[in-house]
Amino acid sequence: MTALQRILGFESSCDETGVALVEVDGRRPPRLVAQALHSQISMHQAYGGVVPELASRDHVRRVLPLTREVLSQAGLALHDVDLVAYTQGPGLAGALLVGAGVAVSLAAALDVPALPVHHLEGHLLSPFLSADPPEFPFVALLVSGGHTQLMRVDDVGSYEILGETIDDAAGEAFDKSAKLLGLPYPGGPHLARMAEFGNPEAFELPRPLLHSGKPDFSFAGLKTAVLTQVKKIGDSPCEQTKADLAASTQAAIVEVLVKKSLMALKETGLMRLVVAGGVGANAKLREQLNAACTKRGVRVHYPELSLCTDNGAMIAMAAALRVQRGMAQARQDGGFEVRPRWDLSAV
Ligand code: KG4
Ligand code: ZN
Repeated sequence: MTALQRILGFESSCDETGVALVEVDGRRPPRLVAQALHSQISMHQAYGGVVPELASRDHVRRVLPLTREVLSQAGLALHDVDLVAYTQGPGLAGALLVGAGVAVSLAAALDVPALPVHHLEGHLLSPFLSADPPEFPFVALLVSGGHTQLMRVDDVGSYEILGETIDDAAGEAFDKSAKLLGLPYPGGPHLARMAEFGNPEAFELPRPLLHSGKPDFSFAGLKTAVLTQVKKIGDSPCEQTKADLAASTQAAIVEVLVKKSLMALKETGLMRLVVAGGVGANAKLREQLNAACTKRGVRVHYPELSLCTDNGAMIAMAAALRVQRGMAQARQDGGFEVRPRWDLSAV
């Protein structure tokens, strides 16, 4: 049993600076006390994607004001913090170094441990911040801008990859298709909005690897197929045609994600599915997963909508769950490294 511990978490792996404070007390579920987030999306939009150097510089600008905001929301001071957690990877090296550098320095100044966290573990455990937290074991569908994986999760730290993408991630498929449709970065939510008015059957698009018999994914071909259709509909298609193509693209991605999730559930015999990562915010994906899982008696858990994309709360929460289990491998020598590439099954 742990006594009350306050964990300050930092996320800076890509284009969001997130800071949060989570309390963990004995075996009770950890509690999110405060959080603050700054999204760089509007800054990167002019370039059509994330510019790593600009991302790092903006994290530098935002991280301390956000930390002050979190402490002020919580009514606490820095010396109330018992542990500092930070995203060690995967992500952009320069961006990760900002969060890691600040977290480790802060921990050294406060003489408390600094705990590195795997970004995807943060996503995976983010539904524990929801009003309806899951129970272990479960199948996790992790769908973000950089990753698409199905995993068997037996407990914190026990992650077996059942299948993953062999090329683009689902978020990338959304973003690249959206870009072809002239939508701003990151295109996923824009494409989803446009798809609301479209006919998902208007365009015939491929469902790559749908019948591979394995819970693996490939989305690169879909982007090429969307490009072919964009060329066909010409330079100035009407809004309805664009909406139809958006809806057809979304339908193709969602169908693959749903079918492969069902396959992973069947393969493992598990009756619980956790969906995490930015694409987990997609309403069509939620609707179709809910329908398919209800039919099979499978329970589905999602993070709160606002916690689907990158945030500090999921990093502090992952650290809290590790602390609770006596699994927190904190470094106290003041040294740190970041891991831009880091396999979750190696955690
Ligand atoms: O998890 P996340 O914030 O960042 C990574 O760790 O990659 O995920 C961002 C991804 C982007 O590709 C974005 O377009 C996608 O999640 N996304 C969505 C939606 N909201 C965010 N894709 C489809 N529909 C959405 N509603
Ligand atoms: Zn992420």
